[in-house]
Amino acid sequence: MRDEERRIDGRPDGPGAEGGGPRRAGGRSPQGAVPGLPATAFHPSVAVRLEVNGETWVGEVPATETLATFLRDRLGLTGTKIGCEEGNCGACSVILDGALVYSCLVLAAACDGGRVETVEGLAREDRLHPVQEAFVAEDALQCGFCTPGQIMAVKALLDREPRPTPEQVQAALAGNLCRCGAYPRIVKAALRAAATMAGGAETAASRRGDDGSADGATDGEGGTRGAPAR
Ligand code: FES
Ligand code: FES
Repeated sequence: MRDEERRIDGRPDGPGAEGGGPRRAGGRSPQGAVPGLPATAFHPSVAVRLEVNGETWVGEVPATETLATFLRDRLGLTGTKIGCEEGNCGACSVILDGALVYSCLVLAAACDGGRVETVEGLAREDRLHPVQEAFVAEDALQCGFCTPGQIMAVKALLDREPRPTPEQVQAALAGNLCRCGAYPRIVKAALRAAATMAGGAETAASRRGDDGSADGATDGEGGTRGAPAR
């Protein structure tokens, strides 16, 4: 985590964002429920402190704002996609405190004190994460809309199960829909990433001269994560 904190309301707004004050929640106008009444009557702000991809953000968010909207509209992290907004498609999948979640079903205010990983946080120093590289190598996408969610689902799987079977990959991705039908290639990409990450861990272990039993097949950020929350 970086030392500095950033104000949620102190950063230039991202794509589609509005100005200060109450923000849209769930894609609806704040005034949509009862025209004429002030939005603040229905959207009280809640103070939150969140770590997102290693950066700490502090500020206030409307109590009804989802984590997906928060990430996209306030932080400009539009890699997280919004499809169904009702927990069916998986396009909005992110990792919250080590567990895969649908960010369209999680309130940003409920994440106070939490740690969020999005697809934007995977690459390191201009090098794609092995899961991202595997998706490219296997051409595991067509339109790409579902891809960030698929990548986060694979990342969450490999964090807790570094060497999954094809059946485990399919089960882990069951909550992520792909309208383009790229499923076979997505599974191949997940298995390729697992092999790459395990190989890298073994190489690193042999360089250190240890017995290779370390759990380095994870992403190096603290070992196996918790089980998916969905
Ligand atoms: S947008 Fe969240 S599950 Fe579809
Ligand atoms: S690549 Fe188009 S929805 Fe999956």
